[in-house]
Amino acid sequence: MKILKTIAEMYAERDLCRAEGKRIGFVPTMGFLHNGHLSLVDQCRKENDVTVVSVFVNPTQFGPGEDFDSYPRDIDADTRMLRERGVDILFFPDRGQLYPEGYHTYVEVEELDKGLCGSSRPSHFRGVTTIVLKLLNIVGATRAYFGRKDAQQAVIIKKMVQDLNMESEIRALPIVRDSDGLALSSRNSYLSPEQRAAALCFPRALMQAKQEIQSGLRDTAAVIKRIEAVIADNPLVQVDYISVVSLDRLQPLAVVDLNNTLVAGAVWVGKTRLIDNFILGEF
Ligand code: PAF
Repeated sequence: MKILKTIAEMYAERDLCRAEGKRIGFVPTMGFLHNGHLSLVDQCRKENDVTVVSVFVNPTQFGPGEDFDSYPRDIDADTRMLRERGVDILFFPDRGQLYPEGYHTYVEVEELDKGLCGSSRPSHFRGVTTIVLKLLNIVGATRAYFGRKDAQQAVIIKKMVQDLNMESEIRALPIVRDSDGLALSSRNSYLSPEQRAAALCFPRALMQAKQEIQSGLRDTAAVIKRIEAVIADNPLVQVDYISVVSLDRLQPLAVVDLNNTLVAGAVWVGKTRLIDNFILGEF
């Protein structure tokens, strides 16, 4: 596995791949990798000739007071895992490469970034779209892979790629969960054993709601109320938001549409914010 730290080195590899007609698959990450990331890597390797993974904790997607400084980092473990997984290139740039002195340009996908996580993290998606656009350009990705745990992120990135006539294909792959049901996240490492046990009420509430929808529940206000009620039973977990929206446009729904619905939420467990969701329809 090649480890590249500069944009110039990445351009050189990208141009070589292009000259040889190779398809470049790309998995952007913020590191501290887990099996969710590795499932994206595995799919990427299946569908492309060359697999590039980036590790960059992107400062512009963290708001004031958020966990940029404490975000978990372990590049040695990440490097080991990616090498074992057969990744071809690890792109590991520093902040100065991506945001040099005098950097001033940002990309915003309007409307889609307002609700859900955008309500409590107002500048988050502007940071995400900006870095993803930069990385897709630098890497020259034929296809790029994202997890559905960040469903709003995936919808916004798909829209950006469509609206800006970019050539990369965006793939959004299913959530990977621990055996107890908790969606894998680098932030799970913040949880104490007691908090982790408490956090399980969140996926349980979502799974219960999914079953109720499958049994005929359609009123979205009732869906939200039931999810909130299950979580409210647990004093260590506070709801940030629970929303039921259309999957394509992220607009609030009054009635569940079995072919186009995202039921998504965020909860606080102490100082840790966790997100999770389920989808009805094709992503
Ligand atoms: O999902 C993430 O880990 C990040 O938001 C991403 C896509 C790597 C951009 O920094």
